[in-house]
Amino acid sequence: MTSEAEAERTQAGATAGDGADAAWQGAVAEAARLEGLWRGEFGDAYVRRNATLDDRRGRFWADLLGGRDIASTLEVGCGQGGNLRHIAAILPPEAVWGVDVNAGARARARANAPGTNVVAALARALPFRDGMVDLAMTVGVLIHQPDTSLPLVMAELVRVSRRYVLWAEYHADETTEVAYHGEQGALLKRDYGRIYRELFPELEVDREGFLGEEAGFDRVTWQLLRKP
Ligand SMILES: C[S@@+](CC[C@H](N)C(=O)[O-])C[C@H]1O[C@@H](n2cnc3c(N)ncnc32)[C@H](O)[C@@H]1O
Repeated sequence: MTSEAEAERTQAGATAGDGADAAWQGAVAEAARLEGLWRGEFGDAYVRRNATLDDRRGRFWADLLGGRDIASTLEVGCGQGGNLRHIAAILPPEAVWGVDVNAGARARARANAPGTNVVAALARALPFRDGMVDLAMTVGVLIHQPDTSLPLVMAELVRVSRRYVLWAEYHADETTEVAYHGEQGALLKRDYGRIYRELFPELEVDREGFLGEEAGFDRVTWQLLRKP
């Protein structure tokens, strides 16, 4: 190869590599920006606004977990424990796990759901082994992930679950950004059922539905997905 051709190849390789690196860094940077928001005052303000838990959520969890082969759960983005509290009234608290990026939320979750395991973690890099729990889930958390890290977050939920993955999120047929406390890219309605189906076609829909205010939730669409 002539030195000119060699130089051209090196340059092309470097350009492709740099492009991939830049794309990866961009993906991580946007996820990190939003995680930083939730870790800081923006997240603290969310915890203050939602300090009062809604007891009406208990019925959904009792119905969902009753009689199923679910002995342990992990909620990613557990907030102040508004779901953990009810789940820990059904399952042994030591089999109930929650992670959240916000320290104030974790402190409240521990107080609201005593005996559960609430730890600091990022949704896109869960510090748990494959199949650690029977059910891994999010409630109002995928909506706060950017397009770039959403597949990573979903993959982590699927990885740490032995049997089921549950999502309960704001639905829109097409991805739609909703204004959220003055921050860009902080709330995205999407077709989460379709995205799970496309990324993980092996998951089967076990149950699905909609949870409104009368059930203690904020108009979320949900699905319980079963692993093969
Ligand atoms: C809207 S709240 C929902 C809380 C809870 N799931 C519920 O239903 O009440 C979103 C929570 O997810 C946490 N969160 C958002 N993005 C996260 C991420 N990438 N990793 C970990 N926690 C995250 C926030 O700190 C916040 O507590």
